[in-house]
Amino acid sequence: MTVMQPSVLNLKELPSDLDRNRLPRHVAVIMDGNGRWAKHRGLPRIMGHRQGVDALKKLLRCCKDWGIEALTAYAFSTENWGRPLEEVDFLMTLFERVLMRELQEMIEENVRIQFVGNLAALPRSLQDQIERSMTATQGNSGIQFTVATNYGGREEILQACRAIATQVQQGKIQPDEIDEALFSRYLYTANVCDPDLLIRTSGEMRLSNFLLWQMAYGELYITEALWPDFDRTQFHQALSAYQQRHRRFGKV
Ligand code: IPE
Ligand code: IPE
Ligand code: MG
Repeated sequence: MTVMQPSVLNLKELPSDLDRNRLPRHVAVIMDGNGRWAKHRGLPRIMGHRQGVDALKKLLRCCKDWGIEALTAYAFSTENWGRPLEEVDFLMTLFERVLMRELQEMIEENVRIQFVGNLAALPRSLQDQIERSMTATQGNSGIQFTVATNYGGREEILQACRAIATQVQQGKIQPDEIDEALFSRYLYTANVCDPDLLIRTSGEMRLSNFLLWQMAYGELYITEALWPDFDRTQFHQALSAYQQRHRRFGKV
């Protein structure tokens, strides 16, 4: 007698209730709530950051499986330097270790990784690792994975202004040539389209200086889930909500 096996859920497949043709091209995430996740378990905050790395790894894989073209994750803001020195040091070391550990797999999985933010202010060894990982994956054609590290939206806009002002001063750009398209090319995110969907975990309803220019018409999705608990099911919910939105872009 043959025994019927229960059908195994194929995690790689896009859930059947989602419309493949109406997926966001670019998803951005504010990975918030690591500290609270740890606190709820009586653990030091850094344990939440460690667990947060796993959540990001899983989301990247899920985006890849479901055919999302670009994922951008907020890892460290220009304001996060104001945290206790031990936490900042831990995060910088964590970023470096994770990059080193995951690089080979990203190469094999065809991931193109890039970092955006004021990278020159990061520890030298982290900068080197960032450089290596960007160089090693730049020829990949799969998902564009952007990590915002020492990133601030205002700072990004200011550095664009400075660069454009210099070009104007040198007579290479006329002031009336400065339009939205030109300005966007001076942002850190010049090579990726604006996010269609921004997910923030831990229930906070603010941008915290993330992608201020790029989010002009991006859809916001806030979930109470803390970042380390954000999984495929949560992401599925975010995408379902996104597909129910009506993006008007100011029209009727
Ligand atoms: C987000 O989690 C991670 C970083 C900012 C690096 P938090 O560390 O902000 O966690 P909460 O908000 O204190 O819970
Ligand atoms: C935003 O989270 C920055 C990152 C997730 C990297 P924060 O925890 O720093 O934001 P605020 O302070 O609650 O606005
Ligand atoms: Mg926070």
